[in-house]
Amino acid sequence: MPTTNPLRIGLRQERVIAPQCLVIFGASGDLTHRKLVPALFELFLQRRLPSEFALLGCARRQWSDETFRQKMAEALGSKVQENSSSWELFVKGLFYEPVDLQQQEDVLRLAKRLEEIDYLRSTHGNRTFYLSVSPKFYGNGCKALSSAGLLNDPKRSRVVIEKPFGRDYSSAQSLNQLVQSCGQESQIFRIDHYLGKETVQNILVLRFANTIFEPIWNRNFISSIQITAAETVGVEERAGYYETSGALRDMVQNHLTQMLAITAMEPPGHFDPEAIRNEKAKVLQAARLADEAEPWNCCIRGQYTKGGAKKFPLLGYQDESGVTPGSTTETYVAMKLFVENWRWQGVPFYLRTGKRLPKRLSEVVLTFREAPVHLFDSTVGQPSSNQLILRIQPDEGAKFRFEVKAPGSGMKSRPVEMEFSYDQSFGEPSDEGYVRLLADAMLGDPTLFTRSDEVEAAWRIYTPLLELIEDQPWKLPIYPYESRTWGPAASDELLAKDKLLWRRP
Ligand code: BG6
Repeated sequence: MPTTNPLRIGLRQERVIAPQCLVIFGASGDLTHRKLVPALFELFLQRRLPSEFALLGCARRQWSDETFRQKMAEALGSKVQENSSSWELFVKGLFYEPVDLQQQEDVLRLAKRLEEIDYLRSTHGNRTFYLSVSPKFYGNGCKALSSAGLLNDPKRSRVVIEKPFGRDYSSAQSLNQLVQSCGQESQIFRIDHYLGKETVQNILVLRFANTIFEPIWNRNFISSIQITAAETVGVEERAGYYETSGALRDMVQNHLTQMLAITAMEPPGHFDPEAIRNEKAKVLQAARLADEAEPWNCCIRGQYTKGGAKKFPLLGYQDESGVTPGSTTETYVAMKLFVENWRWQGVPFYLRTGKRLPKRLSEVVLTFREAPVHLFDSTVGQPSSNQLILRIQPDEGAKFRFEVKAPGSGMKSRPVEMEFSYDQSFGEPSDEGYVRLLADAMLGDPTLFTRSDEVEAAWRIYTPLLELIEDQPWKLPIYPYESRTWGPAASDELLAKDKLLWRRP
């Protein structure tokens, strides 16, 4: 008999959110209307928000409650029309207060407004503060809340902090010290929306609720792992932020590293937040660049140039609005890492991410070792290695590639695929990551949020690269790649050195 059934504490078990006021700082920004308010409305439609719920939007703009409500309705568009009576109810709980977190009198006014909302909506002083502001305000934002006494009760107040948390190892350490001086670690929810994706959580279930994978999930059977997050979009309206970040800080340090941690971690003793986060932190502490001494050998940076179809030409990064002329910000990164522990020693992990690639797709691909002896010829040249492909998005699911006998009189083999699709099996699309994560933050469940040691361990991995980019950028040149291609040729060469190819989905 198994001692613990991981499904017992079920990843999708519905739990009840206590009466609550969610305060979003940066409420006039992109994330609020594109992701956060739609996610909250979805929770409302699924009846997972308590009736004693309020959303207080805060930003520097002088909006009224009514303007905020209207803007959010516009942003949700047809979803509001399709669910008009639900929207009518939901919108009654939406409020707005102009707040500049740098101004003490604004924060004191906020504290008063929160008391009024407690009275109006019976939210009992339970508060989740969401910092969807520029990263440079994370530290001072927490300080302002704590000085106003808004973080005094660790059971009833928490802060959600968006990524990137820090710019490198040492700034992440300082930020951790600062935010921890404002509240307890249990009050700090560092968000990475990839952890809210059903398919990322499914990696845990696939690994730890089945017996067939764990015995082969190691260096004896797996020869390499590829983790890809490809996007078709360019930098869009976000050049201001992206110019200070680039793909390494925007995608690799957080989303790709979290996928790596979940794929490579040891089984936790229990399914509880600290046991899981201990294992993730441990694996990240064991991860390092394949060549730390000469990091330029294991990382490729690229930047998209113009391209696309004749009818729909696409601008190059340099021509996007808000991009500094001559910018050397990378929009593509590929790299090779190792995880130096008993399970993974010697197994290369290849990570890549880029904007303006031909397809939107995120996946983890585990390639198994070749058969020791080739008894059969293959119809496609060499018999291919078995592969397990975990499709994070879109077409969420998994597939396993293996060899079968090709029909005919000879004894040739041919690769085929066995598939599981979320859509076909469950008949419903999975929720957006923010739906799950907002609910968890309001529930006070930190399992899918990044702990302080994890975030520092993740930055530490990339420190040699960040230092190189800072001090000797010519050693890590930016290779141009045409929009709608799979990145610079140099990234293929990175794998070719190991006689491998990127999977072309
Ligand atoms: C965000 C990045 O965290 O993730 C964006 O800042 C990126 O640049 C986005 O486009 C990708 O998320 P998803 O869920 O669409 O893969």
